[in-house]
Amino acid sequence: MSKSAKLAVLGSINADHILNLTHFPRPGETVIGEQYTVAFGGKGANQAVAAGRAGADIAFIACLGDDAIGERIRAQLVRDNIDTAAVETVSGEPTGVAMIFVNGEGENSIGICAGANAALTPDCVARHQQVIANASALLMQLESPLESVQAAAKIARAHQTQVILNPAPATPLDDELLALVDIITPNETEAESLTGIAVSSDEDAARAAEALHAKGIGTVLITLGRRGVWLSEQGEKGERIAGFTVKAVDTIAAGDTFNGAFITARLEGKSLHDAVRFAHAAAAIAVTRPGAQPSVPWRAEIDDFLLQQG
Ligand code: RIB
Repeated sequence: MSKSAKLAVLGSINADHILNLTHFPRPGETVIGEQYTVAFGGKGANQAVAAGRAGADIAFIACLGDDAIGERIRAQLVRDNIDTAAVETVSGEPTGVAMIFVNGEGENSIGICAGANAALTPDCVARHQQVIANASALLMQLESPLESVQAAAKIARAHQTQVILNPAPATPLDDELLALVDIITPNETEAESLTGIAVSSDEDAARAAEALHAKGIGTVLITLGRRGVWLSEQGEKGERIAGFTVKAVDTIAAGDTFNGAFITARLEGKSLHDAVRFAHAAAAIAVTRPGAQPSVPWRAEIDDFLLQQG
């Protein structure tokens, strides 16, 4: 059976409580914040929203709490062009929460309570396996139970659905899971945690990419912050693709926006290089705006940005 270019995203949903302050509190210190916002987030939801707004045909597998914010998040996901039939409402559980400090430099520090995200079990994945089987690509992160990520990857592999793993937040992963991944998108810290190779130069990135290829992953994209992305395909010479320079307000969900936009572009048939450029544009727009999902751009904004860059 041939598949349409449909995307399945499996992952977390959080209500982000964001406090902007001059500097991160040290242990025992209280810092008076400058601004407090509650916004919709969670790595899975952010990536789903980035894909939906960029124009992907996307279905989301996730769990929400049976609380008021859960209802509001579901309504917003629908407005973001996401099929939410596989987003379960878990009775008696709160929607996941992320407590985020943003300092004066726009850096963040995040603590999470899984809440309903913990109910995204392998049984829950099995209930929605048809969504994965019908998709051309499955995009996941690591804010969901690891055994569920693995179960979903196995279903994907059995149905020739490409597996894209954004291994965030950094978590040790076994080789069995990595061997099921087609494209991996770690940042420098995550690449180091997966390979033991500290990534601070292109040469380091190339070595870390080789180590990930050796685990059976065909395409490796290591995001390097301001320096762009190291793109490496198995058996070929890697290259660094620079990002766009913009004035960043905060970097919350920049990586998520990159991932959602990247896979959207790939499913449209763009080359790896052009998909990275498209994703760089989406992420560049996102960092100029505060918060997670409020910062994620729509397709027209990404296309305009790229046109202006020439
Ligand atoms: O990647 C950013 C996200 O990480 C935030 O939206 C927060 O919910 C945490 O999951």
